[in-house]
Amino acid sequence: MSMTPVDILSFKESGRKITMLTAYDYSMARMLDSAGIDVLLVGDSLGMVVLGYESTVPVTMEEMLHHCRAVSRGTEKALVVGDMPFMSYQVSENEAVHNAGRFVKEAGCHAVKLEGGREVASTIKKIVRAGIPVMGHVGLTPQTATALGGYKVQGRDLESARRLLEDAVAVSEAGAFALVLECVPDTLARYITETVTIPTIGIGAGPWCDGQVLVTHDMLGLFEKFCPSFVKQYAKFSEQMKAALADFAREVGQGSFPDEQHSFKGDSDIVEKLKMSK
Ligand code: KIV
Repeated sequence: MSMTPVDILSFKESGRKITMLTAYDYSMARMLDSAGIDVLLVGDSLGMVVLGYESTVPVTMEEMLHHCRAVSRGTEKALVVGDMPFMSYQVSENEAVHNAGRFVKEAGCHAVKLEGGREVASTIKKIVRAGIPVMGHVGLTPQTATALGGYKVQGRDLESARRLLEDAVAVSEAGAFALVLECVPDTLARYITETVTIPTIGIGAGPWCDGQVLVTHDMLGLFEKFCPSFVKQYAKFSEQMKAALADFAREVGQGSFPDEQHSFKGDSDIVEKLKMSK
């Protein structure tokens, strides 16, 4: 049975913590899905960790759909959420509904995520009314990080904490089924979690959210350019990968790979006959 937005909503009531990780391709999706992760987010963070952009801003709809298709093909049980890229939902509500529809129709996503609070509440309502489940995202919103003063913890003073709470309530009341809280002080995240009726999924938002999300490349130690301080690295695979790559280069160089075990045994008679028939 596949996970649905209704299941995710119900976990708030039952107190079962929600797990969400990013996936950008088929093999990773298969691994996360078989590990029992509840939600696979095809995050626009792929722009930085997979495509090498400096931020998530340049990511296009076509790039997102390409990766979402691969993740959908690799997923059997998890809920697949497609992240709407910058400027795919801000220009008009009709365009937002159209683009949200593309994630579902063309890429097999079960839901979409978009960033913002009160300013996107009526867009969320429209997408939900069109039959597409929406996950919200408030706090640090990377697509507009420059306007927020950079990649910083949000809601540190009373006024910005109040705005963040109002944003979270607006997204919840607009009909979103879950809400990402990114880079929010733990006590504020706890209060927001107690206030809104939908599950909160924290990233750099402390232990009291209803679930947790991380960028998979960060938590597996696959992305070396930088790693936010709130990330727990469960592995450091880039070190293992570099050692394996160096072994390959050395063994090919010295001729010890491929060896007998990794070759197809040939029939030397055939080669002899070939030579004779020349
Ligand atoms: O794009 C992304 O990976 C995200 C998560 C960090 C929540 O939005």
